[in-house]
Amino acid sequence: MVVNSSRESAMIASPSFALRPAAILVALSLMAGTAVAQDIKVNLDVPYVPTPQAVVERMLDLADVKKDDYVVDLGSGDGRMPIRAAERVGARGLGVDLNPDRVSEAKENAEKAGVSDKVSFRVGDLYEESLSDDVTVMTMYLLSRVNLDLRPRILNGLKPGTRIVSHAFDMGDWTPDRHEKVEGRDVFFWVVPAKVDGRWTLRDGDSELQLDLTQQFQKVQGVVRGDGRYHSLRGVSLRGDEIRFSFERDGKTREFVGTVDGDTIEAQGDAKWSARRNS
Ligand SMILES: C[S@@+](CC[C@H](N)C(=O)[O-])C[C@H]1O[C@@H](n2cnc3c(N)ncnc32)[C@H](O)[C@@H]1O
Repeated sequence: MVVNSSRESAMIASPSFALRPAAILVALSLMAGTAVAQDIKVNLDVPYVPTPQAVVERMLDLADVKKDDYVVDLGSGDGRMPIRAAERVGARGLGVDLNPDRVSEAKENAEKAGVSDKVSFRVGDLYEESLSDDVTVMTMYLLSRVNLDLRPRILNGLKPGTRIVSHAFDMGDWTPDRHEKVEGRDVFFWVVPAKVDGRWTLRDGDSELQLDLTQQFQKVQGVVRGDGRYHSLRGVSLRGDEIRFSFERDGKTREFVGTVDGDTIEAQGDAKWSARRNS
């Protein structure tokens, strides 16, 4: 995956960029109070560069943000992502930024837009922020290295099905579900996949079969063993907690669509099958 390295270098070259340790300085600035906080330099992991409005709109389109969503922007700048999500569809939102000036600006912008009952902003370090599992959409305009640092927390801390949209920077070998150019900018979209790796017992009607799945992010391969024979899975797809696959058995194609919930998979619709993970 090609990353827009020229943009990354431009961001790093920004005069407002300085190195960590950020958290200590923010703690000091908070302890010192707002008036003094203005004078204390905040060491950021990413400089402030706002996402152009057309890109904001497309990111929200790609994430298909609806009224029931809870949109979190880590490194929220002037608050434009959650504010716009609230304006468009009434979604709830949260923005977290290490720079107290940005947080004040975002709160003012939310007031002006009439959405301060829907969105909140707070000073915080994205490296410390716990990702609550009621987040349904996460937006980011950070840097490749920061995205990679966040990746394990996204994959392990957010619910399967959570949509992630990143402006300009990808997530290494977690290939995006969609990638678009908007006004020359890269926009990447992922859906957090359920964890399906392992050996499962698949109960299909009266049959008990062994299902082995191997997973790399949302990409899954597998085989089923039954009647002493192996059947390769075909058309395997995993989107959030929904898994689909098929295989040939007794000359017939069997299609499976199920919902993953921890160590079980339940059939969707009227189909009579289920799977339980053994290991
Ligand atoms: C490139 S700007 C993106 C702003 C906004 N998300 C947008 O798309 O317009 C990155 C933001 O991350 C903030 N930031 C940098 N390091 C941070 C950290 N460790 N924790 C939280 N925010 C941080 C900066 O203050 C800046 O506002």
